[in-house]
Amino acid sequence: MKKIIIAIDGYSSTGKSTIAKQLSKSLGYVYVDTGAMYRAITLFAMRKGYIGGATEDAEALVQSLSEITLVFKYNEALGYAEMYMDGENVEREIRTLAVSQNVSRVAAIEEVRLKLVEMQKQMGAEKGIVMDGRDIGTVVFPEAELKIFMTASPEKRAYRRYKELLDRGEDVNYEDVLHNVQKRDHIDSHREFSPLKKAVDAIEFDNSDMGLEEQFERMYNFALRVIEKQ
Ligand code: DC
Repeated sequence: MKKIIIAIDGYSSTGKSTIAKQLSKSLGYVYVDTGAMYRAITLFAMRKGYIGGATEDAEALVQSLSEITLVFKYNEALGYAEMYMDGENVEREIRTLAVSQNVSRVAAIEEVRLKLVEMQKQMGAEKGIVMDGRDIGTVVFPEAELKIFMTASPEKRAYRRYKELLDRGEDVNYEDVLHNVQKRDHIDSHREFSPLKKAVDAIEFDNSDMGLEEQFERMYNFALRVIEKQ
């Protein structure tokens, strides 16, 4: 059977990656979390002091882009790929609230997007891929055979994210997380270059009141229906 490209886009903390991981495992496809790539570039910029401090230097970040190497390495024990930046496993650090607070601004820089979109296109050249992000169905793979656009209420999303951060031992409060989710929604959907928007041919999927099992079952059926037609 021919392999397809599955593009999963949507707002932050809609659980895209959880579903995308399950889906890729069941189909024997590669999973790519493009948010991790934007997060890694953000971490780089924060460490260099280009962002997150009193002043911002997007120009310096753009100048350094060609020096940054990003690689996903599959972790057998975890069952998914982890992000390595310049040879260092940054999987944990890129998920902190500090990185979340800066990532939308970095993701709005055109040169950053051009570099990452190019890498993402190459990763999907062989198909058999599930990629999640904000612009996968609109910019990276407009020709994807299956496009999903995930949504859920900001409160539900903030609560999920809050619990996730607490579980990881971060000292956070719900209001801050909700504020971050709302702010990111706004920046992500209003930026000039490839703003977050539903592709016209994407299936809108609101999971506010849906458990993981039901979400997976529905998605898996969408995928099978498309794959059978290939
Ligand atoms: O999916 P995430 O929350 O890990 O993504 C982190 C940020 O990166 C998010 O605020 C928007 C940005 N992003 C993007 O602009 N384009 C993508 N394809 C993926 C993420």
